Amino acid sequence: MSDPVIAVVGASGTVGRQIIASLQLHDVEPDQVRFFSSERSEAEELEYEEETLPTEKPGPDAFRGVQAVILATPPDVARRLGQQAQQQGAWVVDLSGAYRVDTTVPLVAPGVNDGVLDRPFAGRIVAIANPATQALLSVLAPLRAKFGLVFADVTMLFGTASRGQEGQEQLSKQTAALMNGKDPEVDVFPHRIGFNVIPAMGGFEGPLCDAERHVLVEAARIWSGDALPALTATALTVPTYHGLTLVLSAHLGRPVDADGIRALLKEEPGLKLLDDPAQNIYPMPMLTTDDATTHVGRVRALGTRVQLVAATDNVFRAADTAVDLALKLANRT
Ligand SMILES: NC(=O)c1ccc[n+]([C@@H]2O[C@H](COP(=O)([O-])OP(=O)(O)OC[C@H]3O[C@@H](n4cnc5c(N)ncnc54)[C@H](OP(=O)(O)O)[C@@H]3O)[C@@H](O)[C@H]2O)c1
Repeated sequence: MSDPVIAVVGASGTVGRQIIASLQLHDVEPDQVRFFSSERSEAEELEYEEETLPTEKPGPDAFRGVQAVILATPPDVARRLGQQAQQQGAWVVDLSGAYRVDTTVPLVAPGVNDGVLDRPFAGRIVAIANPATQALLSVLAPLRAKFGLVFADVTMLFGTASRGQEGQEQLSKQTAALMNGKDPEVDVFPHRIGFNVIPAMGGFEGPLCDAERHVLVEAARIWSGDALPALTATALTVPTYHGLTLVLSAHLGRPVDADGIRALLKEEPGLKLLDDPAQNIYPMPMLTTDDATTHVGRVRALGTRVQLVAATDNVFRAADTAVDLALKLANRT
């Protein structure tokens, strides 16, 4: 069988560019990739190994001869192009959240519920849980399995890359304006993000913002079994670029001590324990750059309650898990 061809839609975006880096790390050859974006970046050429490859606007036959398509676009675009790619015989890995509530589409949190892809499902579309859900569940899963989990509350600190290129550009422009004593223009976020913290990420539906709803909906889909834990979430946007920090408080099914929690988390392949506060060693988003693991630390325990901090490179995690999954699916019939 010849090597599969992987298409990236949204290749010019924040996640798309990281997907391109990840494809190279996975030794995917230049003739095995196709890049697509909107009309805005149509003429742009993207570096790939020693070559520069074009990015095209997806036409009606864009995905013929392609085995897997990764969608890193706004959800409305992913909804339309996902159907097209599936009809043209490709597997589809969606990062946009367009299929998060579609129960016919498996929702995967890699390392947490990979088995969901071993069960039969209709169609050829697979959705990947957003990086906050992935990181949160990768920490909670071993705690739940060993001690039982009654309730968890998470505060999520999102860097501006979570709003793509325009979010990062907004932070750069506002920081430069403020440093030069000028009033910055406010766009993209509802308030200034330069030297500020906004207690939300995305728009509101009722009391919850997008990022909070997404985590709650995705966790409810991915968690299975009896006695589903209760979960609450609060999202903040902070003036950083890449990186996501989680502050987690959980009530477990039985009393625990901090050393027992550390020993358990240390054994988990998707986690990296950084927990020596006296030496200033703890998770920080800057340490997670290009690291597929979630860093955990600041572990404290009292009775059945445990508190900790986790950090992950959300853009790297989204891209790397999507490439990994696309390569696996591409080899399925
Ligand atoms: N940023 C994160 O941390 C993160 C993590 C996980 C998932 N996601 C999700 O991944 C998706 C992309 O996020 P991002 O941060 O990379 O956003 P971004 O930087 O704004 O990039 C969006 C990409 O989508 C392309 N696009 C827009 N409309 C299109 C169309 N009609 N046809 C083809 N391509 C189109 C854009 O092309 P142009 O450059 O031509 O406009 C660009 O390449 C979003 O759904 C986001 O929610 C983001």
